[in-house]
Amino acid sequence: MKLSVNLNKIALLRNARGENYPQIEYFANKAIDLGVDGLTLHPRPDHRHATSDDVINISKLTKARGVEFNIEGNPFSKPNKEFIGFCELTDIIKPEQITLVPDAIDQITSDHGWSSGSHDSELKNLIHLLKENSNDAQVSLFIDNIEGVDYAAEMGANLIEIHTGAFAKAINDKNLSIIDEIKKIIDHAISLNLKINAGHDLNLNNLHYLVEMGNINEVSIGHAIIVDSLHYGFEETISKYLEIIRK
Ligand code: PXP
Repeated sequence: MKLSVNLNKIALLRNARGENYPQIEYFANKAIDLGVDGLTLHPRPDHRHATSDDVINISKLTKARGVEFNIEGNPFSKPNKEFIGFCELTDIIKPEQITLVPDAIDQITSDHGWSSGSHDSELKNLIHLLKENSNDAQVSLFIDNIEGVDYAAEMGANLIEIHTGAFAKAINDKNLSIIDEIKKIIDHAISLNLKINAGHDLNLNNLHYLVEMGNINEVSIGHAIIVDSLHYGFEETISKYLEIIRK
């Protein structure tokens, strides 16, 4: 299993003061030095955390350091003031992975996955174009149920990212039946030749359940890594996550 560290929260902290401190590049390099497999940014059209420039700079850094860059966001987000636009950004940076999320502009965080709707044919065309214009990036659809797996296959995605918000809540409530639900999603994705990523609300307490399930290509983790860094420091925190993942 690979670990992609989401650096959005470092951008959020930086933006609180308007200067370039803390510097995202510094923590990007540190995470790579410690052995993470990739970095993720999820720029929002209002630039409230990662900006378009951050995406361009960090994707250059990951290319130079030989790790993967994963850009997350809504492919229908158009250019808006300083925001370059989601598809426009992917054309510029040629990321290794593009994770599409159906988030609304004012949504606090990604809280649901894709489902069928009036956007279907436009999304399918966009996925085709995203692959073509980015030298065959792997395209992943954020999903939160088994129907989402069929939808991702229909849309031409290479991967699904399982939204693990409900999983994290259930584990927190000691409701382990969620494990079988996630396993069903994994098995169905395998049967359709889709690779499997997972993300949202993963932390040091729930991550090992996913590792034990097997067949997960990558987890993307942001919020808990920054919170845990307040306790343990960034380096020790990344090492703790890698220790669980590499078991
Ligand atoms: N995956 C997606 C699609 C997300 O939007 C986010 C949050 O930006 C994450 C994973 C990471 O979630 P968390 O910050 O809770 O680890």
